[in-house]
Amino acid sequence: MASLANKNILLGVTGGIAAYKAAELVRLLRGAGASVRVVMTRAATAFVAPLTFQALSGQPVHLELLDPAEESAMGHISLARWADLVLVAPATADFIAKLRAGLADDLLGALCLAATAPLALAPAMNQAMWNHAATRENLEVLERRGVRLLGPAAGSQACGETGPGRMLEPAQIVESVAGLLGDGPLAGLAILITAGPTREAIDPVRYISNRSSGKMGYALAEAASALGAEVTLVSGPTALPTPRVRELVEVESADEMHRTVMARAELADVYIGAAAVADYVPNASAAQKLKKSADEMILIMRKTPDILAAVAALEKRPFTVGFAAETDHLEDYARQKLAAKALDLVAANRVGPGLGFDADDNALFVCWKGGETHLPLAPKPILAEQLLRLIAERYHAQNPAQDS
Ligand code: C5P
Repeated sequence: MASLANKNILLGVTGGIAAYKAAELVRLLRGAGASVRVVMTRAATAFVAPLTFQALSGQPVHLELLDPAEESAMGHISLARWADLVLVAPATADFIAKLRAGLADDLLGALCLAATAPLALAPAMNQAMWNHAATRENLEVLERRGVRLLGPAAGSQACGETGPGRMLEPAQIVESVAGLLGDGPLAGLAILITAGPTREAIDPVRYISNRSSGKMGYALAEAASALGAEVTLVSGPTALPTPRVRELVEVESADEMHRTVMARAELADVYIGAAAVADYVPNASAAQKLKKSADEMILIMRKTPDILAAVAALEKRPFTVGFAAETDHLEDYARQKLAAKALDLVAANRVGPGLGFDADDNALFVCWKGGETHLPLAPKPILAEQLLRLIAERYHAQNPAQDS
């Protein structure tokens, strides 16, 4: 359970159906030790009564910018100063647009401008509104300004449609908030993650690669950031949006990934090799495009460097986590890999038609020296968080001196 002891969280609730989940969010934030004050927009009060939030937060709910009674009790500038974090959940498309423009015609808008504390948004809206160019552009600008986005998740929506735009579950928001405020289980740890496939050039226009989408590695990078880690992601080519990490290094080949990782591995506390690194690379990549003259062609290949084994063999090595993608004998191979590559932990998943690579859901068998567990089928972001919690637990068990 995340700790938010002594943190002051100003929760802005805007007018969307997900506002009902904000009630649970207040309960969980307080359960984690935070003091919560709630500011509602006028539209939000059409969904949930202020009294609900007053009862759950144990504080009066703030509604009006120009109400003399409210201003004399705790004015908008004092409220802004009070906050360690301003969290808007749910954040509607309308509120996001307003924030981008810097409007201050209601209490929440004014507070967001006046606060110097970090600002986090948990967007919630219909998928078409989320995908609209206006919303995309607004969020891009806000992220450049340092606003943190929590979610949204994809799935079924109140309007009956399916797609991105569901507000994260309250428990996930609390975890992210703990991460943002530096109290997540990975706070203070530098984590180096590889993701995606690699491409091994045959000639200037052709390459050998594999079916990895990078989804699991990217989900791990996002979740590790949310749990408080400083994340460096070394990624092969993927079609995924840029995740929230401290550093993203894009590479193509196994050799390039190897060089990039080795230059950073000794600085990392944890290394997670989630990339599907090619095992072989054409011996020599042709300088010119190969012509189809002969009926057959023979490609001579050499083994690529095993990045994971190289990291595990470092004298000053990080806590080293490997992935295993297997079609059969999953658990045996995973245990063997743990020993053969001298790893700290192995996460294994079954691959095959509809499983593992490029799928949105996954299940993992996880083993380490002295223990193992199954993480059942779940969306990759959820699974990523569960795996990182396990990694945090194992890491802290191995490095007790550093936990004071
Ligand atoms: O031995 P195998 O390739 O099945 O191991 C998979 C694990 O090893 C993954 O964590 C993958 O990222 C890593 N690996 C690597 N370098 C390679 C091949 C695999 O780091 N050349």
